[in-house]
Amino acid sequence: MSRKTILAGNWKMFKTSAEARQFFSQLLPLITPLKPDREVALGVPFPSLEAAAAAVADSPVAIGAQDIFWEDQGAFTGEVSGPMIRAAGATAVIIGHSERRQLFGETGQWVNQKLRAALRAGLAPIVCLGETRAERESGQTFEVLGRQLAEGLAGFAANELAPLVLAYEPVWAIGTGLTATPEQAQETHAAIRQWLGRHLGPALAADLRILYGGSVKPDNVARLMSQPDLDGALVGGASLEAAAFARIVNFDD
Ligand code: 13P
Repeated sequence: MSRKTILAGNWKMFKTSAEARQFFSQLLPLITPLKPDREVALGVPFPSLEAAAAAVADSPVAIGAQDIFWEDQGAFTGEVSGPMIRAAGATAVIIGHSERRQLFGETGQWVNQKLRAALRAGLAPIVCLGETRAERESGQTFEVLGRQLAEGLAGFAANELAPLVLAYEPVWAIGTGLTATPEQAQETHAAIRQWLGRHLGPALAADLRILYGGSVKPDNVARLMSQPDLDGALVGGASLEAAAFARIVNFDD
């Protein structure tokens, strides 16, 4: 199994470009040299993309946006396209985060269109999925995840999805301090991988990286990452502070 671990941060609506520059000036010395078995990425707000990309030039850190619109240009007030994100120096984009689904009405069909736009722009898509607490407690977790996968990945052939990364983020674990147990996360990641195998074939299922997100912290990351189907983390709160995120990036495997 040769899936390289990704430690990704999602800053959400935090940090100006000056704050981004300061963060990277603190982070880079703490994670250099980066252990060869891992990659690092930060999802930053649109106005900070360019400063963040400049700050990580000549480092192994990748910069991503947190959303994308599916058209390349046009009369879509407030939206930001794949070519614009690329031109700002980013190489990745988070799509379908639960906050977008819950607070902004993002649908599975939008996720699908945004995924297509990201691939067209040459951005590595990180597509998020996850169940709410009520859905888990009523035994609907795998049904919900299957629906999110079916909607998000509809119409794609396996060979188009090679750059795709998935992030399983149980909604009940985001920003709550309630991390899924390593066993809970492993069970769910394995089920997602089985779904991929059934619908897109064993090769993609074996190669595709599935990140876990939801209250990942410096002191729980190693246990989570020791699970065979967890290929990295998508970190919210603990990615805002350089020292904490560096401890996550440098976890002992
Ligand atoms: P927290 O790490 O703050 O729980 O956020 C997780 C998340 O939503 C990352 O996208």
